[in-house]
Amino acid sequence: MSLFFNIAIDGHSSCGKSTIAKSIARKYKMRYIDTGAMYRAVTLYCMREKIIDNSIIDTDKLLEKIDNLNIDFRYNTNLQKSETFLNNQNVEDLIRGIDVSENVSNIAKIKEVRSKLVSLQKRMGLNKNVVMDGRDIGTKVFPDAKLKLFITAKVEVRAQRRYNELVDKGERVNYSEVLKNINTRDFNDSNREFNPLVKSDDALLIDNSHISINDQNILIEDLINKIK
Ligand code: DC
Repeated sequence: MSLFFNIAIDGHSSCGKSTIAKSIARKYKMRYIDTGAMYRAVTLYCMREKIIDNSIIDTDKLLEKIDNLNIDFRYNTNLQKSETFLNNQNVEDLIRGIDVSENVSNIAKIKEVRSKLVSLQKRMGLNKNVVMDGRDIGTKVFPDAKLKLFITAKVEVRAQRRYNELVDKGERVNYSEVLKNINTRDFNDSNREFNPLVKSDDALLIDNSHISINDQNILIEDLINKIK
């Protein structure tokens, strides 16, 4: 069964937004868009082009090159998941590393980057069967979404989850480095000038520090069933 409305999922870093979004997409045959991956891909591009170096951004160079950037998602049938492509290169794994994580909020605060990605995201939602996760989906990308969720969890719980993910992927990180990165991104996401992370008034708040994924799915499916 497909839904003919968009679902907006916002919240803090590493609170399981993408797990929720993927599970809804699978169950209701919707298209899942991970907007964090789009900001990460722009960041990787900026690192490669030396538009960002030691946290210093060359804004003129960014504005000159931003139109050369093409980001899209392609479904990998073998892995049964959607992967992020930057200018036709699969960057799905590269964008998840700690180096991109450390630079991404500096890039995500730039007005021109946000307006380019927000307009791309709005276009992706025109067919109304999209579940999108990010920081400004309920407020800026799909302000008229029928279902808006704002997900959070205690910062230590989120850091432990991200740490486990990175270790599973073979990254050499320590917990305090991951915790520091998440605290910094929380601060930057919530305090930037353009499209900061804020809960939309009509979004439902879920703190999943102590809820199992299964219970959370049941709660959300209940909400969806009430709308359709
Ligand atoms: O969801 P994530 O942790 O992969 O997102 C990476 C960064 O991108 C995050 O620190 C904030 C930024 N972001 C954003 O500013 N707006 C979005 N809609 C999605 C992500």
